[in-house]
Amino acid sequence: MTRAFVLDNQLRSVRLSYVTAAHTLMRALPSQQEITEQTAMTGLTLRYMNLADIPSTVEIDRMAFDPPWSARSYAYEIEESHYSHMLVLEADVVRPVHGLRRWLRALAGQKDQTEKMIVGYGGLWTIMDEAHISTIATHPDWRGRGWGELLLAAMIQRAITLNAGYVVLEVRVSNTVAQNLYRKYGFEIVDLRPSYYRNNNEDAYDMRLSLTDRAAREQFAARWQTLLAEHELTDMYSAHKRPS
Ligand SMILES: CC(C)(COP(=O)(O)OP(=O)(O)OC[C@H]1O[C@@H](n2cnc3c(N)ncnc32)[C@H](O)[C@@H]1OP(=O)(O)O)[C@@H](O)C(=O)NCCC(=O)NCCS
Repeated sequence: MTRAFVLDNQLRSVRLSYVTAAHTLMRALPSQQEITEQTAMTGLTLRYMNLADIPSTVEIDRMAFDPPWSARSYAYEIEESHYSHMLVLEADVVRPVHGLRRWLRALAGQKDQTEKMIVGYGGLWTIMDEAHISTIATHPDWRGRGWGELLLAAMIQRAITLNAGYVVLEVRVSNTVAQNLYRKYGFEIVDLRPSYYRNNNEDAYDMRLSLTDRAAREQFAARWQTLLAEHELTDMYSAHKRPS
C-alpha cells in the first residue's frame, strides 16, 4: 500500500463519518412540515388515489367539510366500490432549508428538500351514463391557484372517457365559490333539495353538465389540453384505468 493510498482511504473514512453524522443529526431535528412563504411547487401530477394517500386526504377533508368523510369511507371508495374513481392532485414541493439543517445538508452533499405533497382531491362515481362528483377540495393554503379547476376538469374528462352523458353534483346553496367553479364549466342548477345537509339543514342545489353533444365534448377536450399545458401537468388519471 502506498502512503498516498492510505491517506486517501483515511480521508474517505473521515468524510463518510461526517456525512453519517450529518444524516443522524438531521433525523434528530424536528420535522419541517409547515408551509412557508418560500415553499415552492415545481410539478403537478394527477393520479388515482391509493390507500397511502388517505391520511393526507383526510387532513384536507377535515379542513374543507363539516362533517368530513372518515378514513374508512375513503378506503371503501378506493378498494371496494366498483363505481368510484378517486383522484389526488400531487405537487412537488421544494422547501428551502435554513440554519443548522441547511449546514448539515450541505455537509451531507444535499440541496433543498423536495417532496411530494397532496394538495387536493376529488371523487367521481359513474353509474350507467351518469357521472356524479361525490367530493372535491383543495388544501386551504393553496386555494385560488387554479387547482380546484384542474380537479374538476380532470373528473369531467374522466367522465367523457367513460362515455358518461352527464356530470351531476350537489352543492350547498351558500357555497358560492364552488358554484362559480361549476358554472365556469357549464354546470346549471336543475333542482333544489330542501334540508339536504343534515348538520345544519341547509338546502342543496342539484347541478348538471350535459356531455351528450359531440361539439361540447370536443370543446371540452381542447380546453383540457390547454389546462394540461398551462399547468405542466402530468395526467395519470383522466384516460387511465382504475388500478385494480
Ligand atoms: C371549491 C374549491 C375546490 C375551489 O378550489 P380552488 O383551488 O380555490 O379554485 P380555483 O383556484 O381552481 O378557482 C376556480 C374557480 O372557482 C371560483 N372561485 C375560486 N375562488 C373563488 C373565490 N374566492 N370567490 C369566488 N369564486 C371563486 C372561480 O370561478 C374560479 O375561477 P376564476 O379563477 O377564473 O375566477 C375550494 O374552494 C375548496 O376546497 N372548498 C372547500 C370544499 C368545497 O366546498 N368543495 C365543493 C363541495 S360541492
